[in-house]
Amino acid sequence: MRAWFMDSTEGVGTLRFGEVAGPQPGSGQVLLRVRVAALNPADAFLAQGLYPAHPPLPHILGRDGVGDVVAVGPGPSPVGVGETVGILRCDVGVGVWGTLAEKVVVPMDSVTRVPRGWSLEEMAGAPLVFLTAWQALTQWSDPPAPPPAGGVLLVTGASGGVGVASVQLGKSMGLTVVALSRSEEKRAKLKTLGADVVCDPLERNLVNAVKAAISPKRVDLVVDSVGGALLTPVIALLGYGGRISVVGRSGGTVPEFNTASLFFRRIRMGGVSVGDYSAQAAQEAWQEIVDRLDAIGQRPQVDSIVPFEGVRRGFMRLGEGPMGKVLVRVAG
Ligand SMILES: NC(=O)c1ccc[n+]([C@@H]2O[C@H](COP(=O)([O-])OP(=O)(O)OC[C@H]3O[C@@H](n4cnc5c(N)ncnc54)[C@H](OP(=O)(O)O)[C@@H]3O)[C@@H](O)[C@H]2O)c1
Repeated sequence: MRAWFMDSTEGVGTLRFGEVAGPQPGSGQVLLRVRVAALNPADAFLAQGLYPAHPPLPHILGRDGVGDVVAVGPGPSPVGVGETVGILRCDVGVGVWGTLAEKVVVPMDSVTRVPRGWSLEEMAGAPLVFLTAWQALTQWSDPPAPPPAGGVLLVTGASGGVGVASVQLGKSMGLTVVALSRSEEKRAKLKTLGADVVCDPLERNLVNAVKAAISPKRVDLVVDSVGGALLTPVIALLGYGGRISVVGRSGGTVPEFNTASLFFRRIRMGGVSVGDYSAQAAQEAWQEIVDRLDAIGQRPQVDSIVPFEGVRRGFMRLGEGPMGKVLVRVAG
């Protein structure tokens, strides 16, 4: 099969397009012929050695995708040969070979049928970012649960994969959504996805502008994919007992951080790790996500699709800041 190989930790710019014998499914696994794969910043971090996992090389990246079942390993399987399925978060593309290949082996308990009415493209890129957004939104209750309706959610990097998913799920939960994006065009698109307030995170008066827009309320929960210099104004916007789900670091390290900004309003910060989902928890959360998107009449957002040979171009697009997901068409 043809695949993109990671031979070193020198970044996605050094990925090699090559050939290798196709894999075979073992017990509890299925073999997929990949149709559409999706790119995530985690792939680029892993390719630079900046990720907790350090798989043996050569490695094949790609955590998301959709494909046709072409073989089923020993044991009872929830899906059969010929069915088209998506992949929920698992070790695929992390510790074992991923979806930037014509074929991929996936645990049976991590595949799911394409929801009724969804295109293959909508399915391909949704699981990782929606499961991340789901954890970010629900992790403050035990057991995890959506925040109370009527609260205010602020989403940084709102145009990205996790950001768009957070905006859509936030709307499904009855939250007022404030979405931050540096691009005017993407802010307009976020409005059409249901964001109640959109702002440029680089605006000098960001804190006052958001406060005025949501007055007399304050922000209850932040889903933060950016960090960096944006963290300080984000904390300033939170009300008493406000929480920040820390997802990513697209904006780099936080230049200055005074812990006093946390204690008077009892602000809580908590990391999000999509890697924490068990297969069963991912299946349950995924069903809830699909039902919620159906209920609000929305679908996952696709930014662009590159051909299989254009994976490096796809990663460049991801680095520019997409509006939704960047996909790779592996097979027609
Ligand atoms: N913790 C977890 O389990 C987990 C899971 C998934 C992803 N992540 C991380 O979360 C982050 C976002 O992932 P994603 O898939 O949403 O990425 P993405 O699709 O690349 O989107 C990131 C968005 O952040 C904004 N952004 C990028 N650089 C920025 C900067 N320097 N300053 C301000 N805004 C910036 C961009 O929006 P605008 O251009 O519109 O401003 C961009 O669209 C990544 O760091 C990723 O590794 C973590």
